[in-house]
Amino acid sequence: MNSFEILTEVINNRQSIFPSSFTREDISKEDIFKILNNANQAPSHKHTEPWRFHIVSGTAKEKFSEFAQKSYKNYVSADKFKQSKFDKLARKIKMSSHVIMIGCKHDVEVNLPQWEEVAAVSCAVQNIYLSATAAGFGGYWSSPGFIIANANKYFKMEEDEVCLGLFYIGIPKDILPPQVVKRDLVDKVKWY
Ligand SMILES: Cc1cc2nc3c(=O)[nH]c(=O)nc-3n(C[C@H](O)[C@H](O)[C@H](O)COP(=O)(O)O)c2cc1C
Repeated sequence: MNSFEILTEVINNRQSIFPSSFTREDISKEDIFKILNNANQAPSHKHTEPWRFHIVSGTAKEKFSEFAQKSYKNYVSADKFKQSKFDKLARKIKMSSHVIMIGCKHDVEVNLPQWEEVAAVSCAVQNIYLSATAAGFGGYWSSPGFIIANANKYFKMEEDEVCLGLFYIGIPKDILPPQVVKRDLVDKVKWY
């Protein structure tokens, strides 16, 4: 296979894999670092490299889990609170090898619209998705409002850094839910 074919295969094999499909084995720190190194190769306008990663693993997961549950409880009104969601939150963190908080630093001194920085971070996250797939790992990007709003209470974030959610990562079980089939490209492209 040439490199285009290899890349196409990785892209086509990628799917969001949720913690309920993780084996609970841990990924090594070295492998996480390699994946983040690939994330770090993403493009960014004016070379701002706005992606930031805060990694939760091992015993830190328990404290993070408490923080996530507390954030959820405080964020929703009593009538919207769901005990099942509260419990699932802790389970997802426990099932994951690592939880990566995705930060986006929007340096206001650099005159770029925020969407460009968010787009650059999204490119970095896609590199995480693809690298995880190629390495035999799995994960997904989660964007819970209650974490995004409270992230600075837990993580050591920089000035002008915002949270764009969490990437849960782990080792997938052999049998996974079917992939999401994307709608036809023909309807999304206009040629001129
Ligand atoms: C910016 C972004 C935010 C997302 N947030 C969530 C989320 O909060 N919860 C969730 O279940 N999936 C989330 N996802 C994952 C999508 O649900 C998933 O990508 C979609 O279902 C398509 O499936 P696929 O990734 O397997 O192609 C998010 C994806 C992106 C790109």
